[in-house]
Amino acid sequence: MTFRVTVQPAGVSFDVARDEPILAAAIRSGIGLPYGCRDGACGSCKSRLVEGRVIHGAHQHKALSEAEEAAGWILTCCAAPQTDCVVQARTVAGAGEYPVLKMPARVASLARVAPDVMLMKLQLPANVQLKYRAGQYVEFILRDGARRSYSMANAPERLGNPPMIELHLRHMPGGKFTDHVFGAMKEKEILRMEGPLGSFFLREDSDKPIVLLASGTGFAPVKAIIEHMQAQDIGRPAMLYWGCRRKADLYLHRWALEAAASMPNLSYVPVLSDAPPEDAWNGRTGFVHEAVMTDRPDLSGHEVYACGTPAMVDAAKRDFSTRCGLPADAFYADSFTSEADKHGP
Ligand SMILES: Cc1cc2nc3c(=O)[nH]c(=O)nc-3n(C[C@H](O)[C@H](O)[C@H](O)COP(=O)(O)OP(=O)(O)OC[C@H]3O[C@@H](n4cnc5c(N)ncnc54)[C@H](O)[C@@H]3O)c2cc1C
Ligand code: FES
Repeated sequence: MTFRVTVQPAGVSFDVARDEPILAAAIRSGIGLPYGCRDGACGSCKSRLVEGRVIHGAHQHKALSEAEEAAGWILTCCAAPQTDCVVQARTVAGAGEYPVLKMPARVASLARVAPDVMLMKLQLPANVQLKYRAGQYVEFILRDGARRSYSMANAPERLGNPPMIELHLRHMPGGKFTDHVFGAMKEKEILRMEGPLGSFFLREDSDKPIVLLASGTGFAPVKAIIEHMQAQDIGRPAMLYWGCRRKADLYLHRWALEAAASMPNLSYVPVLSDAPPEDAWNGRTGFVHEAVMTDRPDLSGHEVYACGTPAMVDAAKRDFSTRCGLPADAFYADSFTSEADKHGP
């Protein structure tokens, strides 16, 4: 049994199987809906149900509150239709453009670039051509079926030969996947993955200046977007703000400095929140999104691309709109939610 879901205002329709989340069917059908975690934690897929009924699977209260649910909002990533439905959502041009493929990938190299960050290069199978947009992510499918998401840190134009994707993984002690990456994982290990996924990529139909805001390994998709801008000669003014705790955490500081030196339209502001005296840091300090607000108190004519910890993304979304006039539809984000966020308070 299937239900028909129509997305307004685009007017596109697709079939959703019984008990299937709307978003999963949209991805399968190549319809670009906005989303991030696909797991009820980030709120990126929040949409309005105009007609019909859905049942929600488990989700975080902060992604969709009871009041929002009562007012007709749904999370498409965990809402299964019970009838034909009409949903009001922004469609994202390009999000469903490339096929989502499952493939094995071989760990080509592992480099510890900061105390808790691993730069992993993955060699793709020779018979598969992975097409994606800079900023998107892949999911590893672990032996027990659990999935973990990581953003590609190189642009598709920089895959190289043989094609390899670059990932930046932060160790979360006690974490199912990253404990293995920082422990027993060796080069040549085969991982199973699926991608490309996500709607976090540069909207190229706009020429507004952009703020690229990253915390920690949220730098990965931002790096890919910058490489894409370099490869396509995109001259929009871009301001990169990268927040970390201490100097050693700015694991590609030199890369960012060189990118800014080679691109007249790019500026780079590193911001440390917890630099110890031995870092002898005389750059910016504090919360990274607050550094943006100090420099750009009026963001009304900008677009913001934010990626990293849920706390940073949530604070930036809230403060940029309430204090700096950023329109809600000019804020694009991937929140790096983990099991702790899904099961936390
Ligand atoms: C769209 C997206 C893109 C992402 N991209 C990146 C990226 O490029 N780089 C990156 O570093 N990360 C990224 N992440 C985060 C990444 O997917 C993982 O969540 C993260 O690496 C942790 O995975 P893990 O298996 O090691 O830890 P998990 O098993 O998820 O555990 C995480 C933490 O929660 C604790 N925990 C586990 N279970 C519970 C529970 N039931 N209750 C409370 N606490 C619990 C663990 O002890 C650990 O400290 C991304 C996430 C999303 C959604
Ligand atoms: S809450 Fe639906 S994609 Fe994150």
